[in-house]
Amino acid sequence: MPRRCRAGQDQRFAALRLKDDTRVVHSGSHPGEQHGAVNPPVYHASTILSATVAEWQEQGRQRARDVVGTYYGRIGTPTTHALEEALTELEGGHRTLLYPSGLAACTGALSSFLRAGDHALIADCVYGPTRHFAEAFLSRFGVQTEYFDPLIGAGIAARMRPNTRVVYLESPGSHSFEVQDVPAIAAAAHAAGAVVLLDNTWATPLYFKAFQHGVDVSVQAATKYIVGHSDAMLGSVTASEAHWPALRDTYVQLGFSAAPDDVYLGLRGLRTLAIRLQRHWDTGVRLAQWIASQPEVERVLHPALPDDPGHALWRRDFRGASGLFGVRLKAAVPQRALHALIDSLRLFGLGASWGGFESLVIPTDLRKVRTAVPWTHAGPAFRVHAGLEAAEDLIADLERGFGQLRGAVAG
Ligand SMILES: Cc1ncc(COP(=O)(O)O)c(C=O)c1O
Repeated sequence: MPRRCRAGQDQRFAALRLKDDTRVVHSGSHPGEQHGAVNPPVYHASTILSATVAEWQEQGRQRARDVVGTYYGRIGTPTTHALEEALTELEGGHRTLLYPSGLAACTGALSSFLRAGDHALIADCVYGPTRHFAEAFLSRFGVQTEYFDPLIGAGIAARMRPNTRVVYLESPGSHSFEVQDVPAIAAAAHAAGAVVLLDNTWATPLYFKAFQHGVDVSVQAATKYIVGHSDAMLGSVTASEAHWPALRDTYVQLGFSAAPDDVYLGLRGLRTLAIRLQRHWDTGVRLAQWIASQPEVERVLHPALPDDPGHALWRRDFRGASGLFGVRLKAAVPQRALHALIDSLRLFGLGASWGGFESLVIPTDLRKVRTAVPWTHAGPAFRVHAGLEAAEDLIADLERGFGQLRGAVAG
């Protein structure tokens, strides 16, 4: 039966103490406003017409007061607002904006809080293109960037300068998987007057509650787990109330806008996020444990494994783990043996991105990337994304891969 009220915004709904599994299903859903249809229509819109000059002027006043509405296609439609509303509710922030990609969300968020003469502290483990943006783009506008050891914790206080405006985190790092002590870093950053930004893509808003841990601005590459089906590019940024105006103004000034079909796919993906993540988590841990038991493996980088250095922080702060983790092979294993392993896999695809239904693997090498703390691991390494296939089939595929690896080592 169609709900007669605006489910997501209805006060009775908001007041209910619902679990996230329920919120992903119902947040941002307003069947009563769309002829009872469960899902919103996909509005393809640039021009939005007003019936009269008075209505046109009233819309202008509402926009100036920052009222959520449909004023012009670029600013969003009911399709956009449905996903924004749902993500805001799940993240626990004030409001959310959608971006045309995850990288646009990272760069849009950073641009919102930095100006010429500012200094930004960035965790050494952040996604490569975010790092490149800081070095190649922000530097052109007089912003200085410095990297810090992701394990620095409260020690970041000593790195703050009078002009440090932003501290940018990615926890765990999506290649090296260091879990950051977000509350300790946020406390030190706030004491020095800086804004704390977090790329929360690995955990999603379900498994890490950024705002409860001191983060001011939470970024999602929604392309990954929120879309979940490897068929759309999308990003989101959720801000606290204090940081919303700066985020919104820069968004409008830079002309960001997410494509309606991709937004719809994000909304559709979100409805099954909780159940998909549970499976990614479970299969990821099973694969990680199996891989860790292979004699050629030096270490598996997965915060949910009890012997991982980030495990205690992960248990303290996270509600779950997604399906992405890293593997370091022993230094004696030649690169060509890793290539033989990867090339022999039948179920794991070799490709960028992650968070979709399919399992993936890519070779990695952080030695040329890291600067704050040199990456000393000399052996081959790879990253695994555990998809939604049966874990037994994935393990059988990996068994074949390690057989090929052994053949290449012996040959
Ligand atoms: C941690 C992280 N943040 C941001 C991005 C960028 O997302 P997109 O590919 O949607 O631009 C990625 C992409 O792989 C990522 O892994």
